[in-house]
Amino acid sequence: MGVLSRIGIALDSELLKRFDRYIGRRGYTNRSEAFRDLIRDRLVNEQTAAPDAVVVGTVTLIFDHQEHGVTEKLTEVQHENHELVVSTSHAHLDHDSCLEVLIVHGKSAKVEQFADRLIGLKGVQHGRLVMTVPAHPIEHKHGHKHIHKH
Ligand code: NI
Repeated sequence: MGVLSRIGIALDSELLKRFDRYIGRRGYTNRSEAFRDLIRDRLVNEQTAAPDAVVVGTVTLIFDHQEHGVTEKLTEVQHENHELVVSTSHAHLDHDSCLEVLIVHGKSAKVEQFADRLIGLKGVQHGRLVMTVPAHPIEHKHGHKHIHKH
């Protein structure tokens, strides 16, 4: 953290009560840390919204491996976009369900397009992309490691 600046803000007391309940539920012990996290979250959202922003993130997918062709299709789409995939991890949740988590890295628009394709595949029941921007710029890494367990 840089030099700390103290600021005072005026808040509606009802809004402050709601805020205190919200941060209480989330386990914050002081308001300053909660404010800092909210501000960072909004700033990260704004940064990842720029199509050229280099982001890192995860794509979480739930699918039924018995659904015809879904496993092959997921592998195919990932290979077509291998430059965006840092690693993948797979868990067999039960007899039918699989959970796959991909760590992704690349330009925000490309990553989003890739995630939409995976999530939209027939047989994928639920998926979500989370993108973030590290505080310091990311070096471009090649020679990605794939952990593929199936
Ligand atoms: Ni599986």
